[in-house]
Amino acid sequence: MNEKEIESLTDKVLSSHKYKGLHPAVVERIINDLSGKYQGEVLEKKVKEKLHKIFGAFFVHLPDFKRLAKKFEKDLKEKGESFAVLNLLKYQTSTRERLPFYEDFYKEVFRITGKPKSILDLGCGFNPVFLALMNLAKDTEYLAVDIFKPEIDCLNKIFQILKYKNAKAVWGDAVSKNFGKFDVCLVLKFLPCLKEQNCSVQRFLDTTSCRWLVVSFPKTNLAGRRQKETEEKELSEFIESRNLRCKIIEFSNEKVFVIYKHHLEDVRSHLQGEMKRNEI
Ligand SMILES: C[S@@+](CC[C@H](N)C(=O)[O-])C[C@H]1O[C@@H](n2cnc3c(N)ncnc32)[C@H](O)[C@@H]1O
Repeated sequence: MNEKEIESLTDKVLSSHKYKGLHPAVVERIINDLSGKYQGEVLEKKVKEKLHKIFGAFFVHLPDFKRLAKKFEKDLKEKGESFAVLNLLKYQTSTRERLPFYEDFYKEVFRITGKPKSILDLGCGFNPVFLALMNLAKDTEYLAVDIFKPEIDCLNKIFQILKYKNAKAVWGDAVSKNFGKFDVCLVLKFLPCLKEQNCSVQRFLDTTSCRWLVVSFPKTNLAGRRQKETEEKELSEFIESRNLRCKIIEFSNEKVFVIYKHHLEDVRSHLQGEMKRNEI
């Protein structure tokens, strides 16, 4: 497929109601991957199926995000912060599934990592809304990344309403960009989405700059069956081959790996320093 054909199919996919607002770089990358195997209408169908798996499946109905932000503001005034936040979190499947144990979830994770000053949340969905319930300092730096523009705009509105000045959501592709260094990087229920996008789990985790990596998996998939365990195996290989310290926390419907990655960062800085010295 040539560049023009990829561009034209990207535009077509992005003009559909369900996928309007997805980041074009992700749609283009998926078309590129699948175009070696499929063509024409079949290719379009396969691309949409893939987008459903990595994004659409996490909403039972795609909400009107502008209305959600307005409803949040109203709920906040009339019923208080906790009600408004918990109500908003019900709209995305991944955060809704975390609601029964979110208090223990963040308490346990931060007991291991210490209270972070900065958090990167990759493939964030609505998880950044939990920031209001994480018991962290109001000035915590929080960078959230996802591929759906209306959701990102809604998150920024929520941060503004709640006066989180150092929290920001960005519309982007977590696969192809580095977002800088953070104390904690959340990769919650995101590795299965990356595998769907033919992304190497190990390379992705290697290039993520943080002291602590917090990676989780759902215990059941959306259809209620046991989740395939291939990504979990790849994560275990990553931890073992790099000799990383890791604590596993089990919740009723989520398994969380809290990985200390700091010493890898030290090795990386050391190697970069060596390379610079050699250049001199
Ligand atoms: C299973 S949901 C997890 C959401 C959140 N991390 C949580 O656990 O509550 C996966 C999320 O990854 C996002 N996503 C998929 N591919 C992505 C990519 N290449 N870059 C950034 N986000 C992506 C989807 O839009 C979706 O919000």
